[in-house]
Amino acid sequence: MKTIASITGVAAYVPDYVLTNQELEQTVDTTNEWILERCGISERRILKDPDKASAFMAAEAAKKLLAKKSISPLDIELIIVATVTPDHAYPATANIVSDMIGATNAWGFDVQAACSSFLSALHIASKFIESGTHKKILVIGSDKMSTIIDYTCRKTSILFGDGAGAVLVEPSTDGTGIIDTRMYADGSGKKHLYQAAGGSLIPASIESVTKKQHFMTMEGQPVFKLAVIKMADVAVEMMERNKLSADDIAYLTPHQANKRIIEATAKRMGISMEKVMLNIQRYGNTTSATIPLCLAEWESQLKKGDNLILTTVGAGFTWGGMYVKWGY
Ligand code: UT7
Repeated sequence: MKTIASITGVAAYVPDYVLTNQELEQTVDTTNEWILERCGISERRILKDPDKASAFMAAEAAKKLLAKKSISPLDIELIIVATVTPDHAYPATANIVSDMIGATNAWGFDVQAACSSFLSALHIASKFIESGTHKKILVIGSDKMSTIIDYTCRKTSILFGDGAGAVLVEPSTDGTGIIDTRMYADGSGKKHLYQAAGGSLIPASIESVTKKQHFMTMEGQPVFKLAVIKMADVAVEMMERNKLSADDIAYLTPHQANKRIIEATAKRMGISMEKVMLNIQRYGNTTSATIPLCLAEWESQLKKGDNLILTTVGAGFTWGGMYVKWGY
C-alpha cells in the first residue's frame, strides 16, 4: 500500500494557572453567563512565568510525547512549530525547542497561519513523510496568547488561553493516516482580525505601544460569520470528497474558537455533539494548540481505523479540513 503520514502519538501541556470567568468579571465589563452562552468558555490557562513562553510549553509537550513513545530526541529529524506567538522574531521557535529537548539531529522551522497554523504544519509534515525524505517529525502547536491580549478589552480577553500540543508523524503503509487535506485562505479578511505592530510595517515604537498595536484587534461578528460558514463548508467537503456519511465519522476535531461555531459545523455534518471533541470550556481558544490538545484528551477513546475530520478557521482568513484515519 502507498506510504502516507500517520499520527502515531500525541501529548499536551497546559500551564497551571486557571483564569476563570469570575476573575474576568472583576477586570472587564462582562459576566460568566454572557461568556458561557456566547462562547461556551468557563476558564482558560495562563502561563504566568514571564521567563517562559511558547517554546517552553512546546518543549514540555514534546518531552512528554517522546517519553510516552520511548523515542530518543536524537531520532527526530524535523520539528515544525505552529505558533502566532513565537518566543522571538527569530530564531524559529522550532530551533529553540530542539535545543530544549536535545533533538540535535533535527532541523526545523515555524509555521504561521493564525488559528490554522497547526493544520497547515501537519499538512506540510505529511508531505515530507509521503515523499519518503523523513520518517519522524514532531509537529507542535504552541501559543502564549496572553502576551498579545489586552486584558482591559472584553471582546478578546474572554476568548483566549495558553497551551501546547505535540504530535509525532511517521510513515504508514496499512491505510491509516492522513488521507486527505484541503487548505484555503482569503487575505482580504485581514481587516477583521490582526496584530498591527511588531512586524516590518509597524515596527515597535513608543507610539505603537501607546496605541496598543501589539495586542490583537478583532471584530468578532465578521469573523464569526465567516467561521460558521467556512468551517462547516470544509467539513462537508471532506465528507463528500471521501464518500463519508455521518455514521462513518467517529469524531470531529474542530479548532476551538467558539462553541456555537463548532455546534453549527456538527449540525451541517449531521453528527451529534457526542462525536465532537470539545474542550473550549476549560481552555478557551489556544490558537495553534486547540487541535492537538483535543487529540491528547481523546486519545484513550480513539481506536485504530476511526475516521476523524479535523477542521480549522482563523485570521487571514484561513480555513481547512483534514481527513485522518486514526493509526493506533
Ligand atoms: O480563532 C478565530 C478567532 N476568533 C473567533 O473565532 C471569534 C469569532 N467571533 C466570536 O466568537 C463572537 O463574535 C464573539 C464571542 C467575539 C462575540 O459574540 P457575538 O455574539 O458576536 O457578540 P457581538 O460582538 O455581536 O456583541 C453583542 C453584544 C454587544 O453589545 P450591544 O452592542 O448589543 O449592546 C457587545 O458589546 O455583546 C456585547 N459584548 C459583551 N458583553 C458582555 C461583547 N463582548 C462582551 C463580553 N461580555 N465579553
